[in-house]
Amino acid sequence: VSTPSDVLFEPFRLGKLTLRNRLALAPLTRQRSHLSGVPTELNVEYYRQRASAGLLITEGTAPSAMGMGYLFEPGLFTEEHVVGWRRVTDAVHAEGGAIFCQLMHNGRLSDPLMLPDGRDPLAPSAVRPDPSLNYSPTPRPNRPYPLPKAMTVREIHDTIDEFRRATERAVLAGFDGVEVHAATGYLPIQFLSTNTNLRDDAFGGSVEKRASFLLSCVDAMSTVAGASYVAVKILPGSTAQGVFDAEPEKMYTYLVPQLSKRGIAYLQLPQGAEGNTWDGYATLRRLFDGPMIAARGFSRPTAAAMVADGNAELVAFGQLLLANPDLATRFQNGWPLNRPVTATYYSQGAEGYTDYPFYPDGDPETMLPPDAPAPVRVRATTPAPAAAR
Ligand SMILES: Cc1cc2nc3c(=O)[nH]c(=O)nc-3n(C[C@H](O)[C@H](O)[C@H](O)COP(=O)(O)O)c2cc1C
Repeated sequence: VSTPSDVLFEPFRLGKLTLRNRLALAPLTRQRSHLSGVPTELNVEYYRQRASAGLLITEGTAPSAMGMGYLFEPGLFTEEHVVGWRRVTDAVHAEGGAIFCQLMHNGRLSDPLMLPDGRDPLAPSAVRPDPSLNYSPTPRPNRPYPLPKAMTVREIHDTIDEFRRATERAVLAGFDGVEVHAATGYLPIQFLSTNTNLRDDAFGGSVEKRASFLLSCVDAMSTVAGASYVAVKILPGSTAQGVFDAEPEKMYTYLVPQLSKRGIAYLQLPQGAEGNTWDGYATLRRLFDGPMIAARGFSRPTAAAMVADGNAELVAFGQLLLANPDLATRFQNGWPLNRPVTATYYSQGAEGYTDYPFYPDGDPETMLPPDAPAPVRVRATTPAPAAAR
């Protein structure tokens, strides 16, 4: 690809925000918050370091106590969470950056050990995740996922309201917006998908009814600060974490115009995920009128081509921004890149988190060339080693 990368450094107007370039930090679970879900000083430092990317999207953050699923993941459902996140957003804004909070409800991908009063995880239907998919690299109780509880209609409405209240807390915490994680196996895609949603009421059955939970969340969240405060990440055709849709094309060609009509802040649509049975980026891009964030496996030249060709307004980088806090400056100057270290993606402390060097520090011998793509990601769901089952 020969597109000059300058296009990545044109500012972009996202609603009321002016982003200084076309780079976004993809949401990355790093599990370095307090066990209570309150962000730490280390979290503040991590996001501050990356604030030169046009838009930061936080790691998956639980909108409610029942949405928790991973140890040391952050939350946004108590006053302490708001205070902790406020330190993060203040630090990012002081650097001239912008930051959205990704709301991630684990739904059936949780465990009574993680939930209030040892309650069973909530899901659209009582469909247990495949026990062979249990040993995710992310810290969680190290045992098979239990059978989740099929939500009552009352519980569904309460959960929608939790997404609304988390949005109110996001405003208090100083976020520039919120993104619903409706991809890779979490609660919203559990509602969207045919193997996890076996309901025959207003929230299951037809495409419209399966989409109703996500759209109701978006509508409830939009009452807080408008639809331009709310964004959505989807991954059509994804089979991650055992969630499948028999007809993704039907679902997403309905869902995306619905999101478009609501005037949400942006749609994040990663390409070609593992197990993807339908990679509909080109189709869905045409069905969405607002800003698009492309993601997954991008390098400097492929991202520049994506923006130059008008196929995306922003490009999110996961692993390359994880390993290169100053990725924007490196891209702009054609400097080499730190290599991401997978062993510390979900570990604890500063190692592999806030200690990736800024250029020119670091060992030139181990660096990647400036146009290298992100390494192919370790699977989100690693089968259990036989001995551990
Ligand atoms: C360590 C790690 C944690 C991730 N956590 C999340 C998450 O919390 N929410 C989410 O939507 N995606 C998550 N992802 C997916 C990334 O947002 C992104 O789509 C993926 O890394 C592919 O982009 P890349 O090739 O630029 O790394 C995670 C990926 C990695 C590597």
